[in-house]
Amino acid sequence: MKKKIPAAKGTRDILPREVVNWQNVESVSRRVFELYGYREIRTPVFEATELFEKGTGETSDIVIKEMYTFKDKAGRSLTLRPEYTPSVVRSIIENRLYLKPDPLRFYYIGPMFRYDKPQKGRYRQFHQADIEVFGEEDPAVDAEIVEMADYLLKKLQVSDTETLVNSVGCQKCRPSYIKDLRSKAVEASRVLCADCQRKITMNPLRIFDCKVETCLEVAKTFPKITDYLCQECENHFSRFCEYLDFFSIKYKVEPRLVRGIDYYTKTTFEVVSPRLGAQDALLGGGRYDDMMKEFGGPDLCGIGFAMGIERLISVVPFVEEKGKFLYLAYLGEESRRAGMEFVQLLRRAGVECLIEYKERNLKNQMSRANKLGAAWVLIIGDEEVKRGKYQLKNMETGVQEEKSREDILKIVRESS
Ligand code: HAM
Repeated sequence: MKKKIPAAKGTRDILPREVVNWQNVESVSRRVFELYGYREIRTPVFEATELFEKGTGETSDIVIKEMYTFKDKAGRSLTLRPEYTPSVVRSIIENRLYLKPDPLRFYYIGPMFRYDKPQKGRYRQFHQADIEVFGEEDPAVDAEIVEMADYLLKKLQVSDTETLVNSVGCQKCRPSYIKDLRSKAVEASRVLCADCQRKITMNPLRIFDCKVETCLEVAKTFPKITDYLCQECENHFSRFCEYLDFFSIKYKVEPRLVRGIDYYTKTTFEVVSPRLGAQDALLGGGRYDDMMKEFGGPDLCGIGFAMGIERLISVVPFVEEKGKFLYLAYLGEESRRAGMEFVQLLRRAGVECLIEYKERNLKNQMSRANKLGAAWVLIIGDEEVKRGKYQLKNMETGVQEEKSREDILKIVRESS
């Protein structure tokens, strides 16, 4: 027996029947993003490791544990992108897109890579639809993004979701919060897991990302960041919430929503679905007003979100593939050639056709067409080739008639 090579752990194939759903989610997302003025940007799948260390942040689980990092043959450290946001920021700076008059609104749909423990809704190669906006400080844009996500989910017929919002403050107000949080965490350190104990010195905010039950319980007793916001962050947050009300978006303020990535400032949000199980976030995002300048670019604020396509697919109603096609049944070499020629013509005219190059008798070909769900079967034998007229069977009505090539073309073209 030869050894079978399975797909790498945490990766999966998206098979033709599922691809229909993917295409649906992707095309509805593109359409919605473009309605809101976003344009697609495509950046490389791998980047310099430093980009994510600095961008995603050195205290995030993503950077500490989950990156696919490797050295290329010239010894450069590269990383398969674990998320998209730092890549967009890099691209804007490198291509000086901020000098162009176009709005700085971008979207992208594609694979991301994180070396995490695979489970339902969590993969090592997964896909995100990501949107980012730059240079817009007004909290109305924060609310518009959440409203766009809400509209997209409605278009995809996803119901039962909950929108969680928070503010994680800024460089001015966060330090005093971190100080108090750290001292509370020190007091509780005995009951925290080893990982969280390390986080106390490194970045106690990250304790809120922990999923260990005892840590979750203790974290509930910690001070809330919303009680520490400076005037500017508080104004921003309350106006963001007012605009959400204006858009009639239902939301819940969740002061522990700090979202496992280091770059956030002010607004953070997530849309969760109870239908997803443990990995319940359909999408998440927030503001990151300092990243662009920290990467040596202009002082432009940023905000965006990313949604997990695998998770979305698992809650979007299944789309039935309804494409009609014609199955060509032939008998013998001469009719096969006539069939090949006619099928070529039909395809050029936009009709989907299937001709299989395996010798089968008519009965077998008919049952195959039936099994595959063909809308029509076109039957060509020697007699038909001589007369220049073929048998067309409508598989839905069961009616079979002899027709000229012109008539066949007309019939199938009009109803496909
Ligand atoms: P994130 O919360 O790390 O944020 O990921 C966004 C979404 O991607 C999650 O809500 C989830 O649906 C999906 N996701 C994440 N990891 C996995 C995984 N291992 N398997 C399957 N799905 C997953 C970000 O990535 C930020 N870049 C979002 C953002 C954009 N913030 C500002 N702009």
